[in-house]
Amino acid sequence: MNSVTPASPQRFLTGITTTGTPHLGNFVGSIRPSVAASRLPGVQSFYFLADYHALIKCGDPARIQRSTLEIAASWLAAGLDPERVVFYRQSDVPEIPELTWLLTCVTSKGVLNRAHAYKASVDKNNAAGNDPDADVTAGLFMYPVLMGADILLFKSHKVPVGRDQIQHIEMARDMAQRFNHLYGEHLVLPEAVIEESVALLPGLDGRKMSKSYDNTIPLFAPREQLRKLIGGILTDSRAPGEAKDTEGSALFQIYQAFASEAETAALRQAYADGIAWGDAKQTLFERIDREVAPMREQYEALMANPARIEELLQAGAIKARQVATPFMAELRRAVGLRNLATSAAPAAKAKAVKMAAPTFKQYREKDGQFYFKLLDADAKLLLQSQGFESPKEAALTIKRLQTEGSAALAALHDKLALAPGVDIGEVDAALKLFTPTETKT
Ligand code: TRP
Repeated sequence: MNSVTPASPQRFLTGITTTGTPHLGNFVGSIRPSVAASRLPGVQSFYFLADYHALIKCGDPARIQRSTLEIAASWLAAGLDPERVVFYRQSDVPEIPELTWLLTCVTSKGVLNRAHAYKASVDKNNAAGNDPDADVTAGLFMYPVLMGADILLFKSHKVPVGRDQIQHIEMARDMAQRFNHLYGEHLVLPEAVIEESVALLPGLDGRKMSKSYDNTIPLFAPREQLRKLIGGILTDSRAPGEAKDTEGSALFQIYQAFASEAETAALRQAYADGIAWGDAKQTLFERIDREVAPMREQYEALMANPARIEELLQAGAIKARQVATPFMAELRRAVGLRNLATSAAPAAKAKAVKMAAPTFKQYREKDGQFYFKLLDADAKLLLQSQGFESPKEAALTIKRLQTEGSAALAALHDKLALAPGVDIGEVDAALKLFTPTETKT
């Protein structure tokens, strides 16, 4: 019955949204470490092209198709072995949108209101004096649920992501917990894996390399274009012969991401000795080209043969669905989407699915005083108040908790008690559902 017995290998899963052309920053931060991780023993990797996610931010069909091809070719050229990993396209796995709906029905709307991407749009609209939801699609709002389905469908243990995605993994955990609470232990609770050691790669202008700053160097730019782009990296105006600073030098940081320690030490020395910027750029160009050239050849061959990539992705989808189809059948049964001809389940003692929302309950005791308590979405007691002289006092205290969140707990400690066995984190999570608190970073 418990299908969550730890599958012996650790399952790693990550997705890449198919809206752009991979650049050196993607390679260093995501492609290279993921390919390396996929070669570790005892690890089962699921890597996929998140093309449903792409639809959320891109309305250009040709670009989505092109990006899907480029990203797939990049991963393969960088050494991803489709025999070793399950490499697939999100939209080839219909179980993902199917699970999305089941999760939608156990996710409280209040939690989605606080998702960073949605909140950022609302904040921007508010700042501009627009309707808070102006130009916000339901797709953007539901983004974390689709991502939860990606992760939970494959019982992933570890999800390597950038820092900006941590909140989504936490939401996926919450969805799994809620689902398991209602329907039994089916879903595995995933954990984010953050690559701490990888510094963000700077771009041409020294800011983080990112499509949104238009400062990227495409991973597989043709050789001459690579040379030209590297020539355009921002440097200071120190003349040849003058010592240069490695600190804050984008050129140096990019070099470091590709070079061995000895090579890095040598360039550091050359900086101190006053290497000309033109020569430093040539050194960087040669170092990157040395690493990229063999992959570039592969990449170009793959790009010239999209049918081959399509075939690989189809084969990947078959492997993915060998896991997804039976698991989805289990989940459908669990929630009551069942074949009617099979024996009807004994009168379900499953709890009714009420909408997940914490509540404050106010009441009066025999002692004549006014009390309240905070219950979580499952009516579990989280906080119990002391008696207040008037209902107004009790109401004001509730109001304060609702607006200030758990920050108010310290000041109210003589008025409130944490219910036995309750973690302060649970109270914090429940209170956040009443208040749009600031985005934590
Ligand atoms: N949202 C992720 C990003 O933009 C991509 C993604 C989609 C993903 N589904 C996922 C990452 C599941 C990890 C797991 O970076």
